[in-house]
Amino acid sequence: MQLLRFVIFLPLILATKLAHPEDLIDDLINGFKNAVDCASCHALLVPLKLLAELGDAAFVPALVAACKVFKLEDDDVCTGAITEQGPILAHVLRSISPFKQTATKLCAGTLGLCQSPAVNQYKFPLPERKRAAAPISSTGRTPFQVVHFSDVHIDREYVAGSDANCKKPICCRNFANSAVPPSQPAGPFGSHSCDSPVALVKSMLQETSVFAQAAFSIFTGDVPAAAVWLVNKTGVTNDLEQFNEELGEMLDAPVFPAIVNNFPREDNVGSFNAQWVFDLEGKQWAQWTNSTAADEETHFSGSYAVTAPGTNLRIISLNTVYWYKLNFWLYDSDTPEPDPRGILAFLVTQLQAAEDASQRAWIIGHMPPGSVDTLNDQSNYYDQIVQRYKDTIAAQFFGHTHRDEFEVAYSDYGDRSRETAVSVAWIAPALTPRSGNPGFKVYDIDPDTYEIMDAKVYFVDLANPNYQIKPEWSLYYSARAQYAPLIIPDWPPTAPLNASFWHAVTEAFEADDAAFQRYNEIVTRGAPNVAPCDAACKAALICQMRAARAEDNCYVPKLLTKPMRRATEEATEMRSGLPEDQCEGAGLGYLLSQLALKVAPGVALEEPMDELRRALRKIIR
Ligand SMILES: *[C@@H]1O[C@H](CO)[C@@H](O)[C@H](O)[C@H]1NC(C)=O
Ligand SMILES: *[C@@H]1O[C@H](CO)[C@@H](O)[C@H](O)[C@H]1NC(C)=O
Ligand SMILES: *[C@@H]1O[C@H](CO)[C@@H](O)[C@H](O)[C@H]1NC(C)=O
Repeated sequence: MQLLRFVIFLPLILATKLAHPEDLIDDLINGFKNAVDCASCHALLVPLKLLAELGDAAFVPALVAACKVFKLEDDDVCTGAITEQGPILAHVLRSISPFKQTATKLCAGTLGLCQSPAVNQYKFPLPERKRAAAPISSTGRTPFQVVHFSDVHIDREYVAGSDANCKKPICCRNFANSAVPPSQPAGPFGSHSCDSPVALVKSMLQETSVFAQAAFSIFTGDVPAAAVWLVNKTGVTNDLEQFNEELGEMLDAPVFPAIVNNFPREDNVGSFNAQWVFDLEGKQWAQWTNSTAADEETHFSGSYAVTAPGTNLRIISLNTVYWYKLNFWLYDSDTPEPDPRGILAFLVTQLQAAEDASQRAWIIGHMPPGSVDTLNDQSNYYDQIVQRYKDTIAAQFFGHTHRDEFEVAYSDYGDRSRETAVSVAWIAPALTPRSGNPGFKVYDIDPDTYEIMDAKVYFVDLANPNYQIKPEWSLYYSARAQYAPLIIPDWPPTAPLNASFWHAVTEAFEADDAAFQRYNEIVTRGAPNVAPCDAACKAALICQMRAARAEDNCYVPKLLTKPMRRATEEATEMRSGLPEDQCEGAGLGYLLSQLALKVAPGVALEEPMDELRRALRKIIR
């Protein structure tokens, strides 16, 4: 009844609130105070929507004031992050009902106060299968090598000697309010509380050729530093251009990158338009692809396909941000949209072309399909495509989590076994030291099937006393050497490290806790200050390994109980449970959840509440 009243009388309420700004201020403050579960989260969206209806010029400063008063971040971070992302959220709130399913998804994805709604069942249109079976390697020819690196997060404003110990999402820059003298001077090659200095990036690019004669490389994204409160178009353009230039100069073989950026579901929503990113990358990546691919990037939000030179392998690079929970753009309609921007349809077209041409395909993208920050609907539809084309897809490659891990897809999620395992998503370690030690992967690829025969991770250890003089890259481990001996019966040396292999590895982890704990170190390349992963943590991680479909990853949304995304705490967090999001830094979703926590019922807050009320009175009138 209560809800219905709101829905019907919303325009009326709006008119009344504007006449009585004090009521709106009360509703906002009470809304955050009472936001403890799903119903109260929906209720909070009512005054937030009313605030958004007043315009960005009210919405943004109101949230900035709340962020500052409750000291969620340093003032400059509050202002920057909310000025950047607040207008998108305001647009979303103006576009949807506070009470329908999209609002529930918003509450689940950002505040963790609702559970994700059940998947909207949708049969993704798929052409009939023609291929008889997956190709089998019969020749045993010598594998070729491919390098995979990810999440470089290059901080071009990194300053050696600046403070590596600060209260911002990332450190090692000369911020206006940095401690003088620095409490912990940043070394030239990076620190665990900072993103990658250019020197570290160059060191990695040089070393890839020492350890591999790569036919080509794949790069699964994230170029800019996580200083989300300072992001602007000029800065991002510069970051992307410079990195493309460095890749072109320093690597002998082509590199096939995947795009990462949020984009509206429609062209030109208000003043927002992300097309410039797709045009820019399309043009610059043409040095490794061709004009057809550049054209695809322009039309499919940065997605493209190429046949890798000298192979029968189609590489399909996808913009995966249409399944990212923290891409606020995806929440701006009450009508579910199965395939924003037609990217899944593009994938089907490309896989069908590969099937028709008897090629095999690799899918590369930034966000893995089954992770905790993936939207269940899009993940489900993607999974349908993977099932249909399982014999054409030789492997899938992603980044984003900053963890060296994997996700297995099954033909029957109710019976996950070696027999039902159909495809595997390989997730690369990050370069940024923010999430552990920097690493990259080198795969040995069967030249007939394009399946993976081995994956070796190379890394540098920040704890090495010579690290800041010259990082020494070395072999960290080989997946076959590390995991094949755990499998019963033996995994033959001629068998690929396919989905069945990785399922068998998860069985070995269940049976052998020491093997699992070693894996859990490997995930962050041996990050320092590691909390052990207890039984509940282990069960959650194994469930995630067995879920390339997000609805099956056992994740239960919850209000964050402490800052999860502090660079300095990230490595520890990552060891002791499922990671939340690794890319967003002090993003808006995080700030909102912190606000809901700070004003939780029972927390004594008279003073900041009064201060917030005074600030809001100046904005809402
Ligand atoms: C945009 O970002 C760049 C790089 O961080 C910075 O140098 C520049 O001052 C910023 N421009 C504006 C208008 O904020
Ligand atoms: C670009 O390469 C793809 C295969 O990778 C090919 O199908 C397409 O025709 C090429 N386009 C041009 C303009 O050469
Ligand atoms: C993985 O390889 C093994 C050994 O060749 C094979 O028996 C199994 O069917 C393969 N699994 C998949 C999912 O391709």
